[in-house]
Amino acid sequence: MNNFIFENSTKVFFGRGCVKEFLAGILSEYGNNVMLAYGGSSIKNNGVYDEIKQILTEEGKNIFEFSGIMSNPTYKKVIEGTEFAKENGIDIILAVGGGSVMDCCKAISLGAAYEGDIWNDYWEKNGIIYFEPIPLGVIVTVTGTGSECNGGAVITNEEKKIKTGRDYPKCNPKFTLMDPEYTFSVTKMQTASGGFDILSHIMETYFSKTDDDNVSDDISEALMKSVIKNLPAALENPQDYTARSNLMWASTMAENRIIKLGKSCDFQAHQIEHQLGAYTDCNHGCGLAVIQPVYYRHIYRDGLGKFVRFATSVWNISADGKSAEKVALEGIEALENFIKEIGLPTTLRELGVTDKNMLSEIAESCNIAPGSYGNMTHKLILKILNKCF
Ligand code: NZQ
Ligand code: ZN
Repeated sequence: MNNFIFENSTKVFFGRGCVKEFLAGILSEYGNNVMLAYGGSSIKNNGVYDEIKQILTEEGKNIFEFSGIMSNPTYKKVIEGTEFAKENGIDIILAVGGGSVMDCCKAISLGAAYEGDIWNDYWEKNGIIYFEPIPLGVIVTVTGTGSECNGGAVITNEEKKIKTGRDYPKCNPKFTLMDPEYTFSVTKMQTASGGFDILSHIMETYFSKTDDDNVSDDISEALMKSVIKNLPAALENPQDYTARSNLMWASTMAENRIIKLGKSCDFQAHQIEHQLGAYTDCNHGCGLAVIQPVYYRHIYRDGLGKFVRFATSVWNISADGKSAEKVALEGIEALENFIKEIGLPTTLRELGVTDKNMLSEIAESCNIAPGSYGNMTHKLILKILNKCF
């Protein structure tokens, strides 16, 4: 295992009814001006908005609503939120939604306590946060990113055509409330996309050094098996509480830093997806579903032992009488079949990319992940993107 330091400062409240039970008490520790931030109309359609608003009103909070946070949140929206928070003397930001709302609000919590340009100082490069961001609490309504328990925030700078994430422990939410019932209304497409994002985060971590016997890889296998079981169940019956709660917690476990301990972590597929998103605004989990199996077909030989372990331990593929290469490829094929089974796209064209010419620009703009098994180059990324087309 590599050396590590571990800390996760987010307090988690999980389960049916947790918002009703705990939100008022938690908020009593903060000032009265609450910025209630969310995306589009989903929380108004499923009753979550009314439930939260009633709690805030009963507690005598001054509610400042900030809505319209889009999927793949833009830096422009972050600036709008930053100004809004400053103008209204916000004491706490309450982000209600998925990764996009949570990420945008993390950046706002930082920007509202800072005088400079946060893109230049904290997203374009890694910065040191020497001040306290405005406190942030989150209420999760769609699972996948795991943003609720880390300091990561992925922001798209439309002008620069860069979508990039940074993980600052100071941006960890102070608390997260996770009621699996809040996710009952998530569409099949978003359920599949978020579910695949969970699997993707685990695979990006699992397929990286070190490969010595380590507890992180063992936990990762258990988590992958749980997603493979519970995602089809949630798609079959969106109100399956057991499936929704397992997906919700697996999503957090994949990104709360625990399975990353002692691992170098890859995240090359994410780097490619982020730039694909910067150019096309595609759905995050759908982009990953297209890229990740193709990426693995290009690098599996460099991590052959681990791909064999993935096939046998996660997909129960028999290795009897087969070469290691054959077993590894059968594991990748099982992943591809799973992606088809849950109804996600498998080509860039299905994602709506029509112009093949943009691929070289996308490839050129991708970060190269140092933790990849493969020897990654921009040329290889272009080859992968062309294969995805
Ligand atoms: O905007 P509304 O109307 O709320 O609809 C949303 C949105 O259209 C809908 N939704 C949310 N809760 C719902 C619901 N629909 C019905 N019922 C509910 N209860 O779901 C749609 C997608 O939401 P979004 O937040 O965009 O999805 P997701 O959670 O997948 O977040 C994606 C963003 O997170 C970033 C991605 O790159 C992307 O920008 N990521 C953040 C990470 C992090 N901070 O650690 C890591 C990830 O790898 C990822 O990069
Ligand atoms: Zn992701």
